[in-house]
Amino acid sequence: MRLANKVALITGAAQGIGAATAKLFAAQGAKVAINVRRRDARAEALRDEIGVDNVLIVEADIADRAAVQQMVDQTIDRFGKLDVLVNNAGINVFNDPLLLTDDEWERCFAVDLKDAWHCCQAVLPSMLANGAGSIVNIASVHGHKIIPNAFPYPVAKHGLIGLTRALGIQYAAQGLRVNSISPGLILTPLAEDWLATLTAEEKQRQMDLLPCKRIGEPEEVAYTALFLASDEARFINATDILIDGGRSQLYHE
Ligand code: NAI
Repeated sequence: MRLANKVALITGAAQGIGAATAKLFAAQGAKVAINVRRRDARAEALRDEIGVDNVLIVEADIADRAAVQQMVDQTIDRFGKLDVLVNNAGINVFNDPLLLTDDEWERCFAVDLKDAWHCCQAVLPSMLANGAGSIVNIASVHGHKIIPNAFPYPVAKHGLIGLTRALGIQYAAQGLRVNSISPGLILTPLAEDWLATLTAEEKQRQMDLLPCKRIGEPEEVAYTALFLASDEARFINATDILIDGGRSQLYHE
């Protein structure tokens, strides 16, 4: 019960890394608020699986500041406080820089950076009042390394790591910790959609590129979020943990 007596809010948690994190946090004793953009049967199934006493589904498009505030207020009303925010919601916008439209740029920077900030801004007053809190931002290996034609996602994820450091330092003396996780390729619906566009040979090549010859699993990211959210990580602040099976350290084979 590594999160006993903790209350966590996880954005974009109907599927993928967010859903795995919600399940693991609840299994470790947390009360969990599961954010979905709109009503989602998968979130309801997750709530039924975890148990209605420990789960609150909060509908909010995180682009909507008022809805974000309401989501935070609802979580505190239901569970009495908020200890952990996992900024997990994110989208892939991958393009050739010269083909990118302003709309794509704005969509990417909204969900992957600005809206994560909205969520931080909404939880900070209550965490500061409690003198404790852990924010975990789900960044990406793209926040460290560049793949051509995957623009501007890496720019936004570099920004999210910057946001992590800035807020981590800003509020360290008040008992808050802000860290990020940078997953490599993880087998979630987002990654499955992309893998489905590849030929069998290209899919195999993607796996062969990874030093451990396999794609990561959502639970493997969730376990790192669990550690960062828990008091075990109480001296870890304003930093980023890469979870990519070592891929980003490889020069070449
Ligand atoms: P996913 O697409 O399965 O889940 C993302 C969730 O965010 C979805 O449920 C989506 O509905 C939600 N979302 C998007 N915009 C939203 C909005 N405006 N308001 C509320 N919810 C919104 O993605 P996955 O793969 O689980 O990714 C989770 C996070 O991990 C993302 O931030 C992603 O960038 C990051 N990541 C994923 C990797 C992967 O290989 N799957 C690798 C590196 C980072």
